[in-house]
Amino acid sequence: MLSREDNELLVRVGPGTPMGDMIRRYWVPALLSSELPERDGTPVRIRLFGEDLVAFRDSSGAIGLLEEKCPHRCASLALGVNHKNGLRCLYHGWKFAVDGRCIERPTEPGGANSGHNIRAVAYSTHEAGGVVWAYLGPAELKPEFPDLEWLGMKEGHSVPFKLQEDCNYAQCVEGTIDTAHAGVLHREQPWDAPAKYDHEKDLAPKLEVQFTAYGMRYAGLRKIGDGQQHVRITQVLLPFGTMIPPPGKDAPPIIQERRLVNYFVPRDDESTWHIQWFYDTTRPINVEHRMEEGGIWLQDDFRKKVNIDVWYNQDREWMKTGMMSGIKGIVTQDHAVCETQGRILDRTKEHLGTSDMAVVAWRRMMLKAARALQEKGEAPPGTQGGISWNAITSETVKLPEENSWKADIPGVHVA
Ligand code: FES
Ligand SMILES: [Fe+2]
Repeated sequence: MLSREDNELLVRVGPGTPMGDMIRRYWVPALLSSELPERDGTPVRIRLFGEDLVAFRDSSGAIGLLEEKCPHRCASLALGVNHKNGLRCLYHGWKFAVDGRCIERPTEPGGANSGHNIRAVAYSTHEAGGVVWAYLGPAELKPEFPDLEWLGMKEGHSVPFKLQEDCNYAQCVEGTIDTAHAGVLHREQPWDAPAKYDHEKDLAPKLEVQFTAYGMRYAGLRKIGDGQQHVRITQVLLPFGTMIPPPGKDAPPIIQERRLVNYFVPRDDESTWHIQWFYDTTRPINVEHRMEEGGIWLQDDFRKKVNIDVWYNQDREWMKTGMMSGIKGIVTQDHAVCETQGRILDRTKEHLGTSDMAVVAWRRMMLKAARALQEKGEAPPGTQGGISWNAITSETVKLPEENSWKADIPGVHVA
């Protein structure tokens, strides 16, 4: 559990909050590149960290990310005309470049270029891995862009998805660094039926955490007989990125080497952009298979069609004869348990167990980083350069029981 004070510190991310300041020091995925498919195309309204923004791709292909409200008299710039290297407000025609400079004020004496000292709030953007990333922190403290493993892959080998999760970002993160739930929530048969997979056979994995310069990694260790252990190593990139290990050699070939990355980007305190990539160095991603497996059926606004309003279409008959959750799709199952914790989980009410060790470690790191920044001005982990981002990866391996995963899979930047 957390104290009320620590819980508030963890979950509040709006402008000026300590956690909000901390997460604004990182590059974060903001929207899909496919949402801005063409130059001078339709601007997109996007809410991030409790701020209402507008994104647009200008005539040169550069992407602007501005505060949605026009600096003149606050009409939405998303209504505006996107042409000739800028976004022109529909109300009085003031025009803004991707860096926020006001380049025209046609309704003022002096006309065309009289707006030079007015700026819209504008954030830096960078496109990589089919996603527009954004940096919402102080411009002079912008870190290098991380060249992460899945961002520089061959066409079709790394595919991003995006959907909205209707709860605070922290419970979404905690849902993916919780290896113990895999054998229960995602069980592919009723509770009483014999287990199919290793992670269903040993329901109480041992967790071991190792802190790193960019966050942490942890292993879920399961005994699988014959003196062997099954080891799944998950990476946690502060503040809210998680790299999930591949299913491994026992799984069907189509997913054996397929890795998953999640970023849980706060939309505001009560909702989250769940941005995920699937990537595979050995074969292109089968997108249709992934949509079906995940249960990713979306409305145009990236909200789930199968959501809490229809109680995730849980099927009680199927629970008895087919799948324990009665809920179709792994992502829908994950969202169901996180969203039903409440829009903002009250962590004063929890009773944690040993399987929650990674969750506890992540919370501690987040709280420590937010306090260190607020009280001592210390830069958060991984924002000062010198990280070999490309060498960070998740793993699934089998090792002899007496071996140590930390020695056999040494990782990088470990504390
Ligand atoms: S409100 Fe935008 S130009 Fe007047
Ligand atoms: Fe899950």
